[in-house]
Order: sequence, then structure tokens, then C-alpha cells
Amino acid sequence: MAAAASSMMTTTILAAILISLAGVATTADAKFRAMQWTPAHATFYGDETASETMGGACGYGDLYASGYGTDTAALSTTLFRDGYGCGTCYQLRCVGTSSCYRGSPVITVTATNLCPPNWSIPSDAGGWCNPPRSHFDLAKPAFMKMADWHAGIVPVMYRRVPCVRSGGVRFSLQGNGYWLLVYVMNVAGAGDVGDMWVSGGGQGWMRMSHNWGASYQAFAQLGGRELSFKVTSYTTGETILAAGVAPASWCVGLTYQARVNFR
Ligand SMILES: *[C@@H]1O[C@H](CO)[C@@H](O)[C@H](O)[C@H]1NC(C)=O
Repeated sequence: MAAAASSMMTTTILAAILISLAGVATTADAKFRAMQWTPAHATFYGDETASETMGGACGYGDLYASGYGTDTAALSTTLFRDGYGCGTCYQLRCVGTSSCYRGSPVITVTATNLCPPNWSIPSDAGGWCNPPRSHFDLAKPAFMKMADWHAGIVPVMYRRVPCVRSGGVRFSLQGNGYWLLVYVMNVAGAGDVGDMWVSGGGQGWMRMSHNWGASYQAFAQLGGRELSFKVTSYTTGETILAAGVAPASWCVGLTYQARVNFR
């Protein structure tokens, strides 16, 4: 028994050392967990090719290139939260109509776009994305995995879930010599970004401001400097450190991947 306790303690200490070596977690137990199932509705936009869903208000650009593919959704204003909803992940099931596929299959989508309100149509007769409605305007291929698209709109149950991503957070760099604009992609866990800092070549940390969608900006001369970022999850408050993500030779238009990600 003493041996077991001692070995457990060794394991605990080892885990603590590993975590501190990784330098990743600054908030204990900040792991994002699935939320409650909640009723809403879903429609779709674009066609089977999903070409119209590429781009979008979050700024992820080509969704195949950025890894999100066609399992994506445009969120109503209420869920989009001025862009802080970008990158969040949801499970949806069509429920309660004959247009739902048998067994109510669960689909998983990432928020990549805003479904804007249209105040000239009532929110219960076409203005589906008008506040305060929670609404999912899905890429058509995603909608077609759970319901017959001829239905147009279907009732769903949805819940926010942790985002499963492979590899580290990606930083897509834009801007110019005096203005750095960073699109943050491939964010695991809660999937969202609520705060961000940049450090150029060992300089101090500079807080970035939220631009729009999933982008953050710094008005500073960072050209020719190695870039490190700190990223804080909007939902959990956890902060990860992505040290030396982009080399001093970084270029606008390129995407750099960190070794770290949220849990
Ligand atoms: C809002 O809905 C009306 C009626 O369907 C339509 O004519 C108009 O183009 C829509 N406006 C926007 C901004 O989508």
C-alpha cells in the first residue's frame, strides 16, 4: 500500500513537472466540456459544393486549406457574439420532423461565418438569424448529413462541444510593416479566442486588440522579428504560450503552426 501511494505520488509529481515543462496551462482545470442540449433551428446556405461557404466572417479563408472543410456553420448574431463565437464547435441533431434522417444522426460543425439578421422579414417567417434567435445556417453538405434538404428549415437540438483539432494552433499573418493582423485557426478545446498578446524577438508582451471574426491586431513594427503569441480562450480563460511560432523571416500571407494547443 505504501508502495502504491509512493508510486502514485511519483506519477503526480512527474505529471506536474511535465505540465510545467510544456509551459502550456496557466489555469488549472480549464478544460472545456460539452454543454447542455438546447433547442434551435437549422437551415443551409450555398450548394453541395459549399463554394459559397468558403471565406466567411471569421476570416478563415478557404475552408479546405484551413482544415474546416464543409462541416461548418454560419451562426446567428446571438451565437456569433461579435466574432468571439468563431471557431466554436457544435453537435446538432434534427428532431421532430419527418425530414430528419432516421435515428437523428449527430453532426459536428465549426462556426466559420455570421448569418446576418434581416429585419425586413419577421424572425418566425424567414428572419431565422435575427436576434435573439439561436440559429445555425449550415453548409449544405453538413445539413444533408442529418436531414432532407428539401425541408429548408428543421428543428434541431444542439450543444456546444470541445473542438477536436490535430496539431497546434495556426496563425495566419496579414498586415504590413506597421500593422500585424493575425487570424487564429485550428483552435482546440473551447475553440474560441478572447485575448491575445504578441512578442517580437524577445521584446515584452504587447496586448493585441480584437479586429473582427477570429482576428487580432497589433499596431507595431514587428517585421524581421521572431514572433511569439499568448492566446487566451474566451470561454475557459486558459492561456497558452506559443513561443517562436514565426521565424524572423516571417511573411504576410503565410500561416505558421504552433506546437501547442488547448486541451
Ligand atoms: C431581406 O429579405 C428580403 C425579403 O426576402 C430580401 O428581398 C432582401 O434582399 C433581404 N436583405 C438582405 C440584406 O439579405
